[in-house]
Amino acid sequence: MPTKIEKDTLSGQETTGHEWDGLKELNTPLPKWWLWTFYATIVFGLVWMVIYPSLPFWRGTSGWIAREAIVEEVRAAEARHAPMMARLREATPAAIQADDEMRGFALAGGRIAFANNCAACHGAGGQGAVGGFPSLADDEWIWGGSLEEIQHTIRHGIRANESDEQRMSMMPRFGADGLLTSAQINDVAEHVLSLTGRATDTAAAGRGATIFAEQCASCHGERGEGNREFGAPRLNDQIWLYGEGRRAIASYIHNPRMGVMPSWQGRLDPAVVNMLTVYVQSLGRVN
Ligand code: HEC
Ligand code: HEC
Repeated sequence: MPTKIEKDTLSGQETTGHEWDGLKELNTPLPKWWLWTFYATIVFGLVWMVIYPSLPFWRGTSGWIAREAIVEEVRAAEARHAPMMARLREATPAAIQADDEMRGFALAGGRIAFANNCAACHGAGGQGAVGGFPSLADDEWIWGGSLEEIQHTIRHGIRANESDEQRMSMMPRFGADGLLTSAQINDVAEHVLSLTGRATDTAAAGRGATIFAEQCASCHGERGEGNREFGAPRLNDQIWLYGEGRRAIASYIHNPRMGVMPSWQGRLDPAVVNMLTVYVQSLGRVN
């Protein structure tokens, strides 16, 4: 195809010389303002590359490093918060809760500390998970929902053997250790269901009641109301740590799994433990 630059007869503008089936392309240069803006961005980019760290071997003339800038910001924030953290460290959770300023700080900081340290097991909103991770956002407490009790649980942990004052208790392995036969375990599981009116075999539930009184009531209470001293959960409600239904309950009685939670007193600043205490209680209801 011959290319010839010529003037378009209609518009009087130059063509690019390209022609397709008699159609010619007008040569319309970019507007000047656009071009200059484009050049300006290139210049800006080059200047930026000189001033700031932009290439693997070039640290920039300004000496500014993103990582160091953040470290400095964090340090400044820590310094700003230091007086408040000192107060939170010395105060009791009850005193923190009673003071608007400390309480607001504790709830905000507690939420972050919870997301970082606790959410993996207890869920992002403290809703818990089947498999032994209790909800902290309800009014049922295994070990207690007062500020002192929550603080003790967080500080010393549960069955983790990391603190002399840990929460500790073990439910016997009734089936696995041969303390009860399978038939007896089914009966007592039926009785546990009857505590919330869900038993389907009343004869079995009746036999199970005797076993429950002898073997279980000392920890779980006569009516399955639970006992915080032993961390024995309530059985006469609809909240189940390890799944509901006869099969789940019977298999649990056969071979109970005991929940373990680390002790946090050596891992977290005491101020953070106090913040978490106030935050965790705010999730649920005191009962
Ligand atoms: C490795 C998993 C794990 C992590 C991480 C964890 N917990 Fe727990 N937590 C548990 C388990 C399991 C239990 C229940 C133990 C039991 O059955 O008695 C529990 C119980 C509790 C209880 C007692 C609840 C009650 O009903 O009495 C509190 C309070 C608690 N956790 C707070 C926290 C806080 C705050 C953090 C973060 C600093 C945290 N947990 C991190 C596993 C965990
Ligand atoms: C020495 C105290 C003790 C005795 C005795 C005991 N339990 Fe438990 N039981 C516990 C503890 C502690 C837990 C909770 C373990 C955990 O939180 O991980 C538990 C948990 C359970 C659960 C699971 C609850 C849930 O929410 O999923 C069931 C069901 C149960 N026990 C039934 C029984 C029955 C039935 C007996 C009698 C045959 C019995 N227990 C005897 C301490 C005891």
